Amino acid sequence: MTKTQSKIQLFLSTDTEYYEIVKPILEHPEILKRKTFVHHESCSVYEHCLIVSIISYLWAKRLNWDYRSAAIGGLLHDFYDEPWQTADHKAISGKKKLREKHGFVHARQAAKNAAYYFPELVTEKVDNIIRRHMFPLNIVPPKYREAWLVTMADKYTSLDVFKSPKEWPKYLGLSRNRQS
Ligand SMILES: [Fe+2]
Ligand SMILES: [Fe+2]
Repeated sequence: MTKTQSKIQLFLSTDTEYYEIVKPILEHPEILKRKTFVHHESCSVYEHCLIVSIISYLWAKRLNWDYRSAAIGGLLHDFYDEPWQTADHKAISGKKKLREKHGFVHARQAAKNAAYYFPELVTEKVDNIIRRHMFPLNIVPPKYREAWLVTMADKYTSLDVFKSPKEWPKYLGLSRNRQS
């Protein structure tokens, strides 16, 4: 178990309010599948979403904002169909246009999946959090302050990628290089 994973486990076992909010999502088989999707380096999409969710929840709580929506939206923000490495490959072989590539379409996919699997949890605000988290790549800005929070937490959490500008196109699904 990595240091980050231990910290997450500790947080989940101590902050029962957070755990109760996200429990139905965390234990869902479709979400558990995301443990096998690589986000970047040794971090899975499952782990990345959990970190974004926890940061968003803690910030929202401190600011006295809607921390429930921040936690749920953060956890579901990258609930897209398949690993971006595979999607990118298909995009190349299938001659997809730029606007159809992962960086531009995955927020929409995530919102659709979230509403399908968790209709009782996806409010209009949660939908907006998921749909707008790729701002400014996706040009429509977030509508709610909690959606701004999640988009910032997502970027903050992805700092490892942002530190390497060469990785940006690959991360955003715009590159021809597949991750091995
Ligand atoms: Fe994303
Ligand atoms: Fe993300």
